[in-house]
Amino acid sequence: MITQPERREIAIYSREELCGGYFILWIWDEELSKKSFPGQFFEIRAHASLHDAWDSQHLPKLFKPISVYDNSGGRIGFFIKNVGPGTSALARLKAGDMLELIGPLGNGFPIVQGRRVMLLSGGIGYPPLWYLQKELIKHNLIFWLHGGACQEDVFPCDEMWTLDGSMGKKGMVTQGMAELIEAKKIDLIYSCGPISMLKASAQIAQQFGIEHYASLEAYMACGIGVCHGCVVPVGRVDNWDYLRVCKEGPVFNAADVLWSKI
Ligand SMILES: Cc1cc2nc3c(=O)[nH]c(=O)nc-3n(C[C@H](O)[C@H](O)[C@H](O)COP(=O)(O)OP(=O)(O)OC[C@H]3O[C@@H](n4cnc5c(N)ncnc54)[C@H](O)[C@@H]3O)c2cc1C
Ligand code: FES
Repeated sequence: MITQPERREIAIYSREELCGGYFILWIWDEELSKKSFPGQFFEIRAHASLHDAWDSQHLPKLFKPISVYDNSGGRIGFFIKNVGPGTSALARLKAGDMLELIGPLGNGFPIVQGRRVMLLSGGIGYPPLWYLQKELIKHNLIFWLHGGACQEDVFPCDEMWTLDGSMGKKGMVTQGMAELIEAKKIDLIYSCGPISMLKASAQIAQQFGIEHYASLEAYMACGIGVCHGCVVPVGRVDNWDYLRVCKEGPVFNAADVLWSKI
């Protein structure tokens, strides 16, 4: 159920440091917690007053789309990788600092029962699937494949892949899909990660005729449906249109996305 997004200022409740530039920010808000579902995201930034204090660093006051990583009884987590100016400002935050948020945003993943599910994540596509598996695990059989560039990019799952072979199997995570689809009799796939991974997984899901929902990572300007900077082509080659990842997505039925035009 999609609810009206809200704009809030909330103090960070706690922060966890991981390796490889990853960190988790936890907030506490029972109302937002009740309104947020797996696959949805928030536009977040360090509070403007902190940016003013950091002015000498020239960090831009940008909101950034960050998925709901965990959500339970009021405690909401954001699992973030420091990759550029926006996430580097978030990386400076500690418990007690103020965060500005807009959300929850986006449509989220469909929640199912009685299915044999493959979760497929790449890099920073991991966080939304963590929350999703918590919602699915009681009523579905789940098998999770996750891939990253190196060992710092892999997190708990059933099968790990790294490009450099430093942990798990060596190669692209999509290389593991076909064998597991057959072995585990997978009948539904959820994916989140880089576009190249989503494209490859959409092809494999199509070959096997498996329902597949993909959460797309588009570069977002406004994040709230106004600028149309995040659109993706959806439809058939002879009849397609652009839809906004931040509004109609980020989760799409992969069979509807016109991957050849992305
Ligand atoms: C719906 C959604 C949910 C997201 N959830 C999370 C999350 O839970 N945790 C998290 O860490 N990140 C998440 N992201 C990605 C995050 O919002 C981006 O990495 C963000 O742009 C980083 O901002 P920045 O200012 O730090 O770096 P930027 O200056 O924006 O980017 C730094 C580098 O990363 C590249 N880059 C940034 N975003 C993308 C992208 N979407 N696709 C390809 N290349 C990109 C840029 O080209 C540049 O090279 C999500 C993105 C979307 C759309
Ligand atoms: S980011 Fe502006 S419409 Fe999606």
